[in-house]
Amino acid sequence: MNYRLELRKISKSFGEVQSLRDIDFQVGQNEVVGLLGDNGAGKSTLIKIVTGYHQPDRGEILFNGKRVEHLTVTKARQLGVETVYQERALADQQTLWRNIFMGRELSHRFGFLDLKTMKSETNRLMLESMGFTSAAVNPESIIKTFSGGEKQGVAIVRALHFRADLIILDEPTMGLSLQETRKLLEFVRDIKGAGKSAIFIDHNVFHVHSVADRVVVLDRGTVAGEFQTKDITLDDLMEKMYRVAQTGSLE
Ligand SMILES: Nc1ncnc2c1ncn2[C@@H]1O[C@H](COP(=O)(O)OP(=O)(O)OP(=O)(O)O)[C@@H](O)[C@H]1O
Ligand SMILES: [Mg+2]
Repeated sequence: MNYRLELRKISKSFGEVQSLRDIDFQVGQNEVVGLLGDNGAGKSTLIKIVTGYHQPDRGEILFNGKRVEHLTVTKARQLGVETVYQERALADQQTLWRNIFMGRELSHRFGFLDLKTMKSETNRLMLESMGFTSAAVNPESIIKTFSGGEKQGVAIVRALHFRADLIILDEPTMGLSLQETRKLLEFVRDIKGAGKSAIFIDHNVFHVHSVADRVVVLDRGTVAGEFQTKDITLDDLMEKMYRVAQTGSLE
């Protein structure tokens, strides 16, 4: 079977700085890939290439085995890529149900918005997928009253409910409380449960180890190594990360 996403020999420079050099990277169907690496290793640059935000200088991008030329943000969306950033994903002043259906509103036959179905569907998603039990949260709640973790939960559930096949999370736990982080990690496991794929970036090795099927370590723009998480203990992974930071190599 083809990879959901494959990068071949991707390179990207910003002026003098080479952020990525000959990167080979794959995400399988229904696979969660953790991306680890120190500050400036090139993680966000890699993600921005996948989302069509940056064009690579060299290399190939394939979705489901098909090469895509000149990937743009719009094209990446159409190919099922959704990104979840903390705070940025949602319209703060709008209600929960409007955020869920934003850009994909349901209508009646004559073009009137089908408010009733959108609200009841939001209620169902809220209870079944988001696990919001707080009495304060309902489909009419305004998003800005949500916690950072709840907002990201909404963004992930929305991505899952629609056509996203590859969900990208760049440092989603940053600024979250312990409780919110736990909830977020559960959402990432739901992505896997729904048969979709994800790329998960986090500085916390423990978080990455606990949700990823495979971990890819970047160091100064190159892939320093990769592991199946089932083959490596958390301690060993941490040890290897320290080694990469010190020597630039996993050996
Ligand atoms: N738009 C840009 N213009 C110039 N340099 C950039 C740009 N984006 C990234 N870089 C440089 O590319 C390198 C990789 O940056 P990137 O943001 O991909 O790292 P990162 O692994 O996401 O780091 P962090 O963990 O700090 O988020 C850095 O040296 C950075 O300064
Ligand atoms: Mg980054």
